[in-house]
Amino acid sequence: MDTKLMTETARAMVAAGKGLLAADESAGTCKKRFDSVGVECNEENRRAYRELLFTTPDLNKYVSGVILFDETLRQATRDGTNFAEYLKKNGIIPGIKVDAGAHDMPLHPGEKVTEGLDRLPQRMKDYFGMGARFAKWRAVITIGEGIPSMACIEANAHALARYAAACQEASIVPVVEPEVLLDGNHTAERSESVHQDTLEALFHEIERHGVSLEHVILKASMCVSGKDNPKQAPVAEVAERTLRVLKRTVPAALPGIVFLSGGQTDENATAHLDAMNRLGAPWPLTFSYSRALQAVALKAWRGQAGNAAAAQKAFLHRARMNSLAAKGEWKAELEKQALAA
Ligand code: 13P
Repeated sequence: MDTKLMTETARAMVAAGKGLLAADESAGTCKKRFDSVGVECNEENRRAYRELLFTTPDLNKYVSGVILFDETLRQATRDGTNFAEYLKKNGIIPGIKVDAGAHDMPLHPGEKVTEGLDRLPQRMKDYFGMGARFAKWRAVITIGEGIPSMACIEANAHALARYAAACQEASIVPVVEPEVLLDGNHTAERSESVHQDTLEALFHEIERHGVSLEHVILKASMCVSGKDNPKQAPVAEVAERTLRVLKRTVPAALPGIVFLSGGQTDENATAHLDAMNRLGAPWPLTFSYSRALQAVALKAWRGQAGNAAAAQKAFLHRARMNSLAAKGEWKAELEKQALAA
């Protein structure tokens, strides 16, 4: 276990004004995204799309690391450079999603537990050999009538802690992601209370499993209102609730916290991150977005090589906006200026 390497990796991941690009959509999720713009989801199109993202000029000014899917870690640019190598050469750290997805939890209707622990310690060693220096495991917590149950919260926390231990043994920094979904009609207040239970359970398990807090990155959701709730909590309230629950539950020893966008609009994901950074926190707070960085790029690309430059421009704009938000320096006017440009 190389703790010095993990210290360096974690620090670089959350360096000032930089965040992560989540490009680790499984083939199934990728199909959903591609379907929405009429692109066939085959291996070559997935490769071409990822190449478009990773080769965006100046991406390394705003993005410190990219989370890859297993297939992508084994793919290369058109001229034959392995993606992990390409990213590393450009000062971007390659990461890898290692969970096997959230599956229905037996005897717990409406709830999910993430699978993928079998043979994980060996897989982590293999991923290190392939260049991955951080990893991701996503657990899903659903809010509804009578859920989440403590059984679901604890089963997912336990799996996240075992995953984190396997990562660290292989000198890979674990990103632990307990995503509280925004599906449903709950209030932001209820979301905050579910975050409290989820994060308390997670750090209890992490400490019990001997995982080094100094080498863990939390990937958190935000305390937003359920997407079907007609009364959406304003940006300031979301920022205040999210920061409060994080301060109550997350040890200050963590090197940083990154956020998922979870289906928020692009601009809300940026505005929330910016508002939290303006309030100030004991850890660097930055982004690890998939949809809130990529949606505009995918729409501009639509599978046409001739659209690549426009897609990269739209993508880089979102990366730059979120980089400003990671420093608490974003302004809504900057979005309008970009549209006018
Ligand atoms: P979104 O930003 O689209 O929620 O994706 C982030 C992610 O990696 C979810 O696991």
